[in-house]
Amino acid sequence: MDLITFKNMSKEFNPGKQTNRVLTDVNLTIKENELVMITGRSGSGKTTLLNIIAGLDKPTSGSYFYRNHDLTNKNYKQLADFRQNRIGIILQNYPLVDEKNVFENVKIPLWNSDLSKEKQEQHIIEMLRYVGLENKAKAYPKELSGG
Ligand SMILES: Nc1ncnc2c1ncn2[C@@H]1O[C@H](COP(=O)(O)OP(=O)(O)OP(=O)(O)O)[C@@H](O)[C@H]1O
Ligand SMILES: [Mg+2]
Repeated sequence: MDLITFKNMSKEFNPGKQTNRVLTDVNLTIKENELVMITGRSGSGKTTLLNIIAGLDKPTSGSYFYRNHDLTNKNYKQLADFRQNRIGIILQNYPLVDEKNVFENVKIPLWNSDLSKEKQEQHIIEMLRYVGLENKAKAYPKELSGG
């Protein structure tokens, strides 16, 4: 199954005035379970590409498919729904809210979810169990180990 497909995808910043074309005709397919490393010099467009993959930014031209979903012409509201349901982003440093415990931190991305409160709580507990953190649900970030 193809996970990510770009066809002739280009990205420009400041179109018109001082156009900065960062990505030019990207043709790329990434399959499910493939492990991909994106390398390139500083300023070459790695973050720009990742932002487009994650639905945080949009291509200027060309197309982007995620599984069978054509994301090319989605608006930012539709991209927000896509991110909420399909995309996980792991950052180098953890943006945890110090004043919230583990359970409450995991709950933050669900603020806009259609799921009932009970379903959300079930889901959170299931995910904490999945990563072996269910016994830390009430702990605060500073009480956790780094990893
Ligand atoms: N929002 C923006 N508006 C205008 N130009 C931008 C914007 N974001 C990135 N750029 C420009 O696009 C180019 C690529 O930036 P990008 O952040 O994708 O590079 P990178 O490969 O991730 O670099 P680094 O290795 O330093 O993180 C740079 O010239 C940058 O100045
Ligand atoms: Mg970068």
